[in-house]
Amino acid sequence: NLKLGVMISGRGSNLQALIDACADPGFPAEIVVVISNKADAYGLERARMAGIKAVSFSQKKHSSKEAYEQSIDAELRDMGVELVCLAGYMRILGSDFVKGWIDHMINIHPSLLPAYKGLNTHKRALEDGCRFTGCTVHYVVPDLDSGPIISQAAIPISMDDTNETLADKVLPYEHKLYPYAVKLIAEKRINLINNVVHIKGYEDPINGVI
Ligand code: GAR
Repeated sequence: NLKLGVMISGRGSNLQALIDACADPGFPAEIVVVISNKADAYGLERARMAGIKAVSFSQKKHSSKEAYEQSIDAELRDMGVELVCLAGYMRILGSDFVKGWIDHMINIHPSLLPAYKGLNTHKRALEDGCRFTGCTVHYVVPDLDSGPIISQAAIPISMDDTNETLADKVLPYEHKLYPYAVKLIAEKRINLINNVVHIKGYEDPINGVI
């Protein structure tokens, strides 16, 4: 089984989707540690309820952002993590940390990247009058939300959608997409060629997976 370390900041519904996927004995991955930058993140409770080690790291207890991220890095390595999954981790990671996990760290983002990197994705898609939005799982590189795309789901926007209704529509797709991307990696079905992901036996996420 591929050993996962999941990093969160809050609610942890994507973490829950990964916990649920890993509960299937046929799923080729397991979560060995959950790390939060917030001590009160509900996701930490979700992890503990599933019997998974859950720890919070406060930057205030470290002399610098680099020192803080080095402690997180050490925890991930101590636990034997092979793939880091960012799941609503709402801090930008420093390039030293990211470079240490290059090709071994993925993120889920609530837009059809490369559109709408950063925050407030649903609001910005609505303001631009987009007819579709979606979610993306991608490899993490030092540039924010810019790494190779692994999987995406596209979701139509209705005329009466608001930030909240759109977030509610996209979230269930995130919950399907993230375990799917982890499965592809665990099954070694991903080839990176010129920074583009090629997938063996790719199933269309909307028609095949969701
Ligand atoms: C999710 O919608 C995720 O895509 C988004 O935060 C939410 C976390 O929810 N991530 C980002 O915006 C990353 N920049 P969750 O804690 O319930 O998984």
